[in-house]
Amino acid sequence: MKKVNFLKGKDFLKLLDFTPEQIEKLIDLAADFKKMKKEGKAHKYCEGKNIALIFEKTSTRTRCSFEVAAYDLGMNVTYLDPTGSQIGKKESIADTARVLASIYDGIEYRGYGQELVEELAKYSKVPVWNGLTNEFHPTQILADFLTIKEHLGTLRGVKFVYMGDARYNMGNSLMVGCAKMGMNFVACAPKKYFPDAALVAECKKIAEETGATITLEECPEKALSGADVIYTDVWVSMGEPAEVWEERIRELSPYRVDTEKMKMAKDSAVFMHCLPSFHDLKTQVGREIGEKFGITAMEVTDEVFESDASIVFEEAENRMHTIKAVMAATL
Ligand code: CP
Ligand code: NVA
Repeated sequence: MKKVNFLKGKDFLKLLDFTPEQIEKLIDLAADFKKMKKEGKAHKYCEGKNIALIFEKTSTRTRCSFEVAAYDLGMNVTYLDPTGSQIGKKESIADTARVLASIYDGIEYRGYGQELVEELAKYSKVPVWNGLTNEFHPTQILADFLTIKEHLGTLRGVKFVYMGDARYNMGNSLMVGCAKMGMNFVACAPKKYFPDAALVAECKKIAEETGATITLEECPEKALSGADVIYTDVWVSMGEPAEVWEERIRELSPYRVDTEKMKMAKDSAVFMHCLPSFHDLKTQVGREIGEKFGITAMEVTDEVFESDASIVFEEAENRMHTIKAVMAATL
């Protein structure tokens, strides 16, 4: 078996901590694992190891990806749900980190502030992987970029337009990822939804070295002209109060990805979304909000979501292959 743990012992907390070469290597390793899985070739690179998955927020993709990736690598998994442990309620993050690190070989953490996962990593002697915080969702970006590479053959020079609330985990992490990988990132939203100014400045600095560009644009027509990828995310994220729906719907509806917006981009443009998505009223929240505000879709229309341009389910599958790469590389 070739050596894959080129980041042995390193945490995976945010893309800012990694070089473009390391990110590229993780994406390529994920592609190798994907091929092995499709060909039915065993790849138990982490045989006999044990990992803990801590979820303080709910999840479908991230949890399942960590679990299946771990099994494929030959590992055993413990899942701690938002109510199933003492974390934060009866035991500090620092104490939890030291306890779990003495039992497990790696720890995944999904929670609220980025400072929590950073704290966990500080006190853990084994690698900690960020499974989403309010600020960053780095494993998602690896999956997104693998999917873009599969479709467009490259990341460099790709025009990537993020529509909607760009201040949260997805907008932030995609901007960082695009800056690192020499892509042309555009956040398209009303000004107040632009990413944090300090992070924009940091990304512009990275962009000077990688050839990337970072643009903040209020006009969808300008933003989408020549776009290769159109990306969006929910307008209200996990942990935010329900009261913000009214304002978000009012202010972000002009940024909803619909067929008209897709036509503003290149003919070959693809639609991406980290999921879950409110593209119809077939969910409890979608139905409640839809009925209350008289709309049938939120950040993306069902027509675009179900169109040939939509690659959201390939993107979701790639969560598993890329998370596998992160674990194998760091263990
Ligand atoms: N995209 C993503 O992280 O999905 P889950 O919340 O289902 O894990
Ligand atoms: N911004 C979303 C992403 C979900 C994967 C959230 O934090 O809820």
